[in-house]
Amino acid sequence: MTQAPDLPADIVTPDPETAAGYRIPDWDAVAGPAADFRTFWEDRAKELEWYEPWDTVLDDSDAPFYKWFTGGKVNIVHNAVDRWLVGPTRNKLALIWVSEDGKETRTFSYYSLNREVMTWANILKAMGVGKGDRVTIYLPRIPEIMFAMLACAKLGAVHSVVFAGFSSDALKERILDSESRLVITADGSWVNGKVFELKKIVDEAVRHAPTVENVVVVKRTGTEVAIDPLRDHWFGDLETLPIAKGQCATEVLDAEDPLYILYTSGSTGRPKAILHTHGGYMVGTYTTLKYVFDIRDEDRWWCTADPGWVTGHSYLVYGPLLNGATTFMFEGGPTYPYPNRWWQLIEYYGINILYTAPTAIRSLMRFGEAWPNRHDLSSLRLLGSVGEPINPEAWHWYHRVIGKGRCPIMDTWWQTETGSFQITSVPSMPLKPGSGGKPFFGQEAEVLNEKGEPVPDGQEGFLVLKNPWPAMMRTLYQDPERYVSTYWSTYPGKYLTGDSARKDADGYFWIIGRTDDVIKVSGHRLGTAEVESAFVSHPAVAEAAAIGLPHEVKGNMIHAYVVLRVGYAPSEDLEDELRQHISQHLSPIAKPDHIEFVDALPKTRSGKIMRRVLRARALGLPEGDTSTMDDD
Ligand code: PRX
Repeated sequence: MTQAPDLPADIVTPDPETAAGYRIPDWDAVAGPAADFRTFWEDRAKELEWYEPWDTVLDDSDAPFYKWFTGGKVNIVHNAVDRWLVGPTRNKLALIWVSEDGKETRTFSYYSLNREVMTWANILKAMGVGKGDRVTIYLPRIPEIMFAMLACAKLGAVHSVVFAGFSSDALKERILDSESRLVITADGSWVNGKVFELKKIVDEAVRHAPTVENVVVVKRTGTEVAIDPLRDHWFGDLETLPIAKGQCATEVLDAEDPLYILYTSGSTGRPKAILHTHGGYMVGTYTTLKYVFDIRDEDRWWCTADPGWVTGHSYLVYGPLLNGATTFMFEGGPTYPYPNRWWQLIEYYGINILYTAPTAIRSLMRFGEAWPNRHDLSSLRLLGSVGEPINPEAWHWYHRVIGKGRCPIMDTWWQTETGSFQITSVPSMPLKPGSGGKPFFGQEAEVLNEKGEPVPDGQEGFLVLKNPWPAMMRTLYQDPERYVSTYWSTYPGKYLTGDSARKDADGYFWIIGRTDDVIKVSGHRLGTAEVESAFVSHPAVAEAAAIGLPHEVKGNMIHAYVVLRVGYAPSEDLEDELRQHISQHLSPIAKPDHIEFVDALPKTRSGKIMRRVLRARALGLPEGDTSTMDDD
């Protein structure tokens, strides 16, 4: 670990009015290490409705396979949808959706959200989907993705959402691993005014995934698609069938029954299937959103993430609905057709809280202040950041230009694995731009050296979490050994985050980045192994190594080293072809910024690529210990 430079001393104190209106004014009194996290979480669970109460708040008898609220009967959909159907909340807007071109708006009250979810659940049920069955969802950012997720949960089925920008290879792998019998998709999606043909990708993936019996297709772009009459069904046809109509009861489940799996990149090999459950995940996402963003009844909350990632799961779909808020979903991105798209939407819909990623802020910053300044952003009360460290320059721009200096920025650190925020700011605390804040209530974090000892304040080390929390993943689906070895074996009893960080003398944590072979590109998580295997699936490539290098807007960019097979010569055309290949075989997000053709890669004697050495070379830094390098 390196000795990092001094931490910035910049502190932004909360606006007294915001702080006074905040529901938890004294953060330290509740969040200090003395607070009993079991009682804290039990009290929060009591704020939600359970069919039957739990016997035990936390069962740690088989740690690290922790169980929460055991004996409790629940369904997350009961708290996200059903309970709002009684009284005036039934007519409150649950979802406002706007199309990429801005020409279409669809709104759903809690009442109509329930009708949609019941229709979807009736259809899934008629297709034989029941408790424990996995369903792959490959949909764009349209209301149907929310309906499909909630319908699965309502039936006790396990959704596996795959970001609709992943390639057919990546989709196939995820369908096969989860053994899904049903895939839900759309004809296409809109990406910057162009159609991205989703159904074609599904056809290709399903050709190699024999478990799939049915494909439900939502019409979005009107693109012509091939329909296999025995396997493919237009949702528009299904919803007119008598079977789709009528009430559908929400399944009574055990608190520990699985809610979803979500694939995420790890250091090596195949993506990991993170498993979350109904009870604990519900309590965790509900509580963190309520306390960190102080969500209120009248709020319009906008999380810009795609439901294909965990941020979309926890804070676009489940968290806001569990709080009975109005969640806003926009199909498009921040700069199409113009860089004022988001500011226009905030003004028109009166958004109160905006939760987004630093990469989006940095890309919008480049277009200057004139774009946001054309709009009335006075409805905003709070801002949020997630996915990667936010550099102080972007923080200040966000705070000054978007929040007009009045809106505190909640930097929330968490992971697919954690399900909910772990290290975060709250509106009443002094903010340190660039710092992720402090551990959330009930959590304690530490920065350790290789021997497992806490490092002195200000020094870089491995970030670990000390206490279990309700929304934590329960295991890696079908790979419990990897769950233990990846997260719980380095420092027994402590959860290894995979990040490096520093803690300052005031107890604020400063996240530096990943310590493993995971690269965060524009806040999206990619594994070097996935990128490298996409490279070697090209006939010209013998070997490849991918590393992350700093990038002004994306945070990190992919830089790849490629060894060509005999008979192929480096050329610009081949470089372009390889870039396209990665885009098609993994995802456009994974497209490398640079490809360097080399004769050999630095490896250890046991044949492992030394990415650390490649990074050091690329950055012009000392190569460190190379004693294990094979220099034959
Ligand atoms: O490196 C950290 C970074 O994102 C990783 C988790 O990625 P993923 O599972 O895709 O979840 C992203 C959204 C929760 C972490 O290990 N990360 C996430 N939030 C922050 C962050 N780094 C710094 N500051 C954050 N607020």
